[in-house]
Amino acid sequence: MTKKSILDFTEMKRKGEKITFLTAYDFPMASFCEKAGMDMILVGDSAAMVVHGLPGTVPMTMDQMILHSQAVRRGAPNTFVIGDMPFLSYQISRESAIENAGRFFKEASVDAIKLEGGRRVARQIEGIVEGGMLVMGHIGLTPQSSGQLGGFKAQGRTADSAMEVVKDAQAIEEAGAFALLVEAVPPEVGRIISEMLKIPVLGIGAGMYTDGQLLIVGDMLGYFEAFTPKFVKKYAELAATIEKAFREFGDEVRKEKFPEGKHCYGMLEGEHEKLQAMLKAILPG
Ligand code: KIV
Repeated sequence: MTKKSILDFTEMKRKGEKITFLTAYDFPMASFCEKAGMDMILVGDSAAMVVHGLPGTVPMTMDQMILHSQAVRRGAPNTFVIGDMPFLSYQISRESAIENAGRFFKEASVDAIKLEGGRRVARQIEGIVEGGMLVMGHIGLTPQSSGQLGGFKAQGRTADSAMEVVKDAQAIEEAGAFALLVEAVPPEVGRIISEMLKIPVLGIGAGMYTDGQLLIVGDMLGYFEAFTPKFVKKYAELAATIEKAFREFGDEVRKEKFPEGKHCYGMLEGEHEKLQAMLKAILPG
């Protein structure tokens, strides 16, 4: 499988072929994504909640995101990987945004970075693009600033709010982003933005008309149990499967049913007798 590039994604949009996109935070999930033929992987700062058990994404650090991105890169060497810039790694200044974006490329060999916000981060996007890096924008529900939105709430549900999302989308494309992620907006808003922009528009909870779809791996595999957004479809129920396996292991250990002979190493030929003789020499009686 050859890694897709922005040319492929633009061509997919032109032909109306949907782009497939999942999050991953570690080596095994990344390799499953690659084997399953995902077009893109997002190393999302949702790792804060899905992997680290935090209530939101704000505490994630650059070092943590780089570590997750490195593991994902190793698991999916032939998939387009996007590193998610954590809170305060790009908001403070254009310079620090360029520097932190560069860390993802230099230290984790990502193909692109993503950052949240519309018009207010256009300057940062321009700077990172001028630095020669690919940027995916992220608008609509932006979890890092969910406090300002009154929580993890869908956006664009009134005409005024939809227009704000549309203006943000235009600003992101004008700033030079190669793609845009739109989160938690009504399908008609997803459609307007996808039709209006030349760059591919990915959706998570943005309806069926966007150029591609993203889901968070812990949601779609059914192992992230803290809450499930409306837009999630569970393709597996791993929480129940994993808990069942753990219970069975605990039961078998307690009942001495595990391990069995087939799970044990044998001593090499003649070594058992040798060991007995050696033990005899050191054991009293
Ligand atoms: O971090 C992440 O996984 C994201 C999604 C919520 C879009 O940014």
